[in-house]
Parts: sequence; structure tokens; C-alpha cells
Amino acid sequence: MSKETSFKKEFTLGDRIVRRMGYGAMRITGKGIWGPPRDKAEAVRVLKRAVELGVTFIDTADSYGPHVSEDLIAEALYPYPPDLVIGTKGGFLRTGPDQWTVDVRPEHLKNALEGSLARLKVDQIELYQLHRVDPKIADKTFEFLQGVQEEGLVKHIGLSEVGVDEIKKAEEYFEVVSVQNMYSVNNRKWESVLKYCEDTDKAFIPWYPMDASKADSISKLDAISREVGATSHQVALCWLLHHSPNILLIPGTSSVEHLEENMKAELIALTPGQLKKLDDLG
Ligand SMILES: NC(=O)c1ccc[n+]([C@@H]2O[C@H](COP(=O)([O-])OP(=O)(O)OC[C@H]3O[C@@H](n4cnc5c(N)ncnc54)[C@H](OP(=O)(O)O)[C@@H]3O)[C@@H](O)[C@H]2O)c1
Repeated sequence: MSKETSFKKEFTLGDRIVRRMGYGAMRITGKGIWGPPRDKAEAVRVLKRAVELGVTFIDTADSYGPHVSEDLIAEALYPYPPDLVIGTKGGFLRTGPDQWTVDVRPEHLKNALEGSLARLKVDQIELYQLHRVDPKIADKTFEFLQGVQEEGLVKHIGLSEVGVDEIKKAEEYFEVVSVQNMYSVNNRKWESVLKYCEDTDKAFIPWYPMDASKADSISKLDAISREVGATSHQVALCWLLHHSPNILLIPGTSSVEHLEENMKAELIALTPGQLKKLDDLG
């Protein structure tokens, strides 16, 4: 595998330089993103290894577990290395495995934010992301976020699963530094949002970046993976790094082996022809 790369490895998120190859901490919980992980020691190893390998951006949410992911991050990594940025999210109520209810009322978000600050053992969340917007109460939600930023409880604010109009509406209240939408080489629904974020210097953070549980999606990458001597998961991630310089990657895994494999996506050199074939999948 060639070590040459043709993309920037870092991005300025708000006022912090982070490595674009980050880690998503949703998978270190139990089945259905509920309760503790099957192998807690491995989950702690994954977090420590991510930082050892140079990850400086970790994504989590109060709803992962709920609370489990944030608790494990603090257990494994606190006191945090100075260059580590932890982005968390609020806006979902959890009632059981695979059950997610949007709740972005200020009273829910206040409790969620206080909980995240306590679990992560910080006085300020560096990146607080609104997990979902509820159009019926968007103004109230945005006013709440503006307030907690003014109070200093959150430094930067991001949004998730939003269109350009919602981003613009939120920006009447605060600066939006990042947008986290579902996106991958096989799923380009949010291409226009990605472009808007690139044009306005916001990070675009694709979730489900490898489309990994869909065997038919990931198998579309098999031919190119064989050509470059990489795995399909690595090719999916490498394409994202090439596709737009404001993309931050947060591939999720519960295993050190997969983490190490995913991190090596940064080392793959794709030719213009291979990139074109991958572009054409969308
Ligand atoms: N904003 C939102 O609404 C939202 C929604 C979902 C997720 N997220 C965030 O986005 C992050 C990434 O999304 P995601 O975890 O859903 O999807 P993903 O990163 O595309 O895929 C994760 C899945 O792929 C498997 N996997 C990872 N690396 C692999 C490899 N090298 N080979 C084979 N299988 C591999 C994992 O299983 P193993 O554990 O076995 O590796 C896991 O089942 C999450 O961790 C979370 O932080 C945000």
C-alpha cells in the first residue's frame, strides 16, 4: 500500500485543529446502542488505542447507552490529552434498545447538557451538537443553545441531520461549526449540504460513513479494494477523505482490530481513475 496521500490530514474545527481521521464512539455500548458493551475492557482499549494512533476528534452523545459512551470516554481517557476534542450531542430520549425519541425541548436539553458535562468531567463541551431539529420548536431550541454558549457551557455548536435552510435558520442564533449527516460513497443524499459546509468552512461529519452493515453496498467497493490492496471499509473512508477537505471521519467500531484497519485508510493512494469509479457509485 503506497504511503502517498493527496488530501489534507487536518481541519480547523472552530478554533481547534483536529485530525480528519477521528473516531465515533457509538459502538462501544450494548446491542441496540443500549446498556454496557459486551466486552468493556475491549471498549476501553479501543478508546486508548484511538488516542495512541493520533485521533484528536472523538464523537459521542448522551444517548449512546444512554450515558455509557460518555462514561467510558472519561474512564479511559480522563485527564484528556490537550489536543483531544470531544464532540457530544443532545436531543434524543432513550426508552430501550433501538428506541430513539427526539426531544429538543430546552428542559430536556438542559438536563442532557448538565449530564454530559458531569460524565465527561469538563466545565465546557468543546463541540455540542444538536442531534436533531424539531421544526415545531426550532426557535426555542436554538435560543437555548445560544444561551448556553453565552454562559460558556459549550464552546462550539454543531447540528445533525439538517438541510441548508435549517443551518441558515440556526445561524440567526449562533455560528454553526459542523454538520453531522448520514453520508457515504454509496449514499450522497446530503451532497448539497456537504457543498454548503465546504463553502462556509464548516466541518461535515458523515455518520454511517462506511455503509458498513449493508453487504451489497460495501461489496461494490471490492474490485477497487483488490486493486489497491486495501479493504472495502478502508476504501470507503479514503474516498471520503479525498472527496471534500472539510469532511471529518468518525468511523465507529467496538474492536481494536477494526480501529487499526480503519485508521490506515489515510495511507491509501487512490488514482484519479479509481476516484472517478468511486464518484460514479453515487
Ligand atoms: N448524528 C447521528 O444521528 C448519528 C447516527 C449514527 C451514528 N453517529 C455517529 O457516527 C459514527 C459512525 O457511524 P456508525 O457507527 O453508525 O457507522 P459506521 O462507522 O459506518 O459503521 C460501524 C459498523 O461497522 C463495523 N465496522 C467498523 N469498522 C469495520 C471494519 N474495518 N471491518 C468490518 N466492520 C467494521 C462496526 O462493527 P464492529 O464494532 O464489529 O467493528 C459497526 O457495526 C458513530 O459511531 C456515531 O459516533 C451519528
